Amino acid sequence: MAGSKLFFLSVIPALASVVAAASTEKVDKVVYCNETLAACPEDKPCCSQYGVCGSGSYCLGGCNPRFSHNISACMPMPMCKDFQTVFSNYSGDLQSQYTYLGDAEKHDWIYEGYTMDYDQDDALVLAMPKNSGGTVLSSTRYVWYGKVGARLKTSHGAGVVTAFIMFSSVQDEIDYEYVGNNLTQVQTNFYFEGIQNWTHSTNVSTTDTYDNYHLYEIDWHEDHIDWLIDGEVGRTLYKNSTFNATSGDYMFPQTPARIQISLWPGGNATNAIGTKSWAGGEIDWDSSDIQDYGYYYALLQGVNVTCYDPPAGTKKNGSVSYQYISSENFTQNYVAITNDTTVMGSADDSGYNPEDGKSSSSSSSTASKSSTGKGSSTTGKSAGKSTTQSGLVAATGSSSVSSSKQSGFVQNINSASGSSSDKSSATSTGGAAGLSYAPVSNNGLMHIAMGLLGAAFAFLY
Ligand SMILES: *[C@@H]1O[C@H](CO)[C@@H](O)[C@H](O)[C@H]1NC(C)=O
Ligand SMILES: *[C@@H]1O[C@H](CO)[C@@H](O)[C@H](O)[C@H]1NC(C)=O
Ligand SMILES: *[C@@H]1O[C@H](CO)[C@@H](O)[C@H](O)[C@H]1NC(C)=O
Ligand SMILES: *[C@@H]1O[C@H](CO)[C@@H](O)[C@H](O)[C@H]1NC(C)=O
Ligand SMILES: *[C@@H]1O[C@H](CO)[C@@H](O)[C@H](O)[C@H]1NC(C)=O
Ligand SMILES: *[C@@H]1O[C@H](CO)[C@@H](O)[C@H](O)[C@H]1NC(C)=O
Ligand SMILES: *[C@@H]1O[C@H](CO)[C@@H](O)[C@H](O)[C@H]1NC(C)=O
Ligand SMILES: *[C@@H]1O[C@H](CO)[C@@H](O)[C@H](O)[C@H]1NC(C)=O
Ligand SMILES: *[C@@H]1O[C@H](CO)[C@@H](O)[C@H](O)[C@H]1NC(C)=O
Ligand SMILES: *[C@@H]1O[C@H](CO)[C@@H](O)[C@H](O)[C@H]1NC(C)=O
Ligand SMILES: *[C@@H]1O[C@H](CO)[C@@H](O)[C@H](O)[C@H]1NC(C)=O
Ligand SMILES: *[C@@H]1O[C@H](CO)[C@@H](O)[C@H](O)[C@H]1NC(C)=O
Repeated sequence: MAGSKLFFLSVIPALASVVAAASTEKVDKVVYCNETLAACPEDKPCCSQYGVCGSGSYCLGGCNPRFSHNISACMPMPMCKDFQTVFSNYSGDLQSQYTYLGDAEKHDWIYEGYTMDYDQDDALVLAMPKNSGGTVLSSTRYVWYGKVGARLKTSHGAGVVTAFIMFSSVQDEIDYEYVGNNLTQVQTNFYFEGIQNWTHSTNVSTTDTYDNYHLYEIDWHEDHIDWLIDGEVGRTLYKNSTFNATSGDYMFPQTPARIQISLWPGGNATNAIGTKSWAGGEIDWDSSDIQDYGYYYALLQGVNVTCYDPPAGTKKNGSVSYQYISSENFTQNYVAITNDTTVMGSADDSGYNPEDGKSSSSSSSTASKSSTGKGSSTTGKSAGKSTTQSGLVAATGSSSVSSSKQSGFVQNINSASGSSSDKSSATSTGGAAGLSYAPVSNNGLMHIAMGLLGAAFAFLY
């Protein structure tokens, strides 16, 4: 690392150009949001995790209050609750992030990309087919201090990145990153409010992360964070070491954050050189995994969440949701706990009309209805991407991967997708037919994954 030049890869513009290209048939113009642009307009009030303005799912997980129309645009964030997920035969319980309307009581996890069950290991497969953007799994609930553990096997290979992170709506971030060219070095990192300082990465050594399941834990306290592997502390960060005397802020992750576990192609040929370099070089899309199974994969067995108390002095007026209460400051003193609903009534809603959500105790049927409506309007436009779509459906149904090969990945996504266009309408989980994250393509997904991990991401030049 010594002597290497560091730079930041700006992923938002990359996403922007993809979205713009994919939506040329739309009458609506795509509107972006970030630090340097104006806040989102009233009719697309929410700034999504990926820096695009909209309503519906843009106003749910990851909605950034700093760049939204105002701080009421984002829906309140589902409050932390202890839970444990065993990802055995679980893919059928996953909710697409495009049809999810904010009901964390019904869904613990939402996904984007390609998932399957792997019965032999009682695990969920996060897959990354050739040239795709991979897969992202997000918790619906936010954690505001707590211990989060994930038992997983990473993927492998140059350019193939597995990640387990906590990511807040104002882009505080606590990371585990597993770069596939060195499977014994696990990278840990953190960011404060998306500020692009990537000098905080450190490595923790362990045994091969592809061959072995390990328990990775983020133990996030108000005054320090421990990163643990198999119960052993590999890194500790003290809040008091992050004080910035100029701003008076601790540059320490301190706002409610979702859990996100993903597999993404940091080494795709079209990525910036620095990204590819950080990711260990270009991906080999003709690797044995691709030839044998049709995809790279990571395996997730379980996630446990234990919530800690919110900071002393937190304004508490309920026990349902977190909300930012200042339009100037986004540190922990400016988060309140309320009883306000996190559920929206339809994909056109935002935080401005949350009462719509209250009437929708049957939110999932509402969701599928409205997604059918919206889906049909985007079907024509996405026709060219039917392979992607049906591939996605093929990969996300409750199909269990039966294991006639030693490693079990006999189902090839590419061949499966050829015959599954019927399934696509039956299960309707295809991203492109979804709610309001407009155009979804492999590229879109790629950049969503990048945005997720890269909003404040480090790359060595
Ligand atoms: C904000 O978005 C605009 C338009 O996509 C882009 O040109 C600009 O570089 C972005 N600024 C930051 C700080 O990301
Ligand atoms: C946010 O904007 C909406 C729509 O313009 C408005 O109704 C609401 O009062 C505003 N809220 C705040 C806190 O400014
Ligand atoms: C998997 O779960 C589904 C319900 O989601 C159930 O019908 C099925 O029997 C389960 N399969 C196994 C192998 O446990
Ligand atoms: C990866 O690169 C290939 C070109 O090698 C391109 O066709 C594909 O769209 C890229 N995928 C993503 C997700 O960017
Ligand atoms: C991984 O990184 C460690 C520490 O930098 C190094 O000793 C080891 O040789 C690397 N392994 C591979 C396979 O590159
Ligand atoms: C990045 O963080 C390091 C250590 O906390 C600090 O010394 C450095 O000044 C920061 N860089 C920038 C550009 O703020
Ligand atoms: C972590 O290990 C990787 C090799 O796997 C290396 O490229 C990187 O520079 C290391 N990071 C630090 C902060 O030592
Ligand atoms: C930071 O806090 C830790 C534990 O709370 C303490 O051990 C350490 O001395 C403190 N460091 C500084 C620089 O205050
Ligand atoms: C401290 O905060 C100031 C003002 O926000 C900022 O300009 C500066 O880069 C920060 N310093 C570090 C080391 O991040
Ligand atoms: C979750 O907790 C259960 C019960 O204590 C334990 O058996 C399991 O290994 C834990 N899983 C993870 C991922 O921490
Ligand atoms: C929040 O809702 C719970 C459950 O309905 C109720 O018991 C509690 O009194 C409410 N709190 C406030 C401050 O309204
Ligand atoms: C935001 O924080 C600054 C610095 O602590 C403080 O002066 C200001 O009053 C705060 N603004 C609000 C709206 O609380």
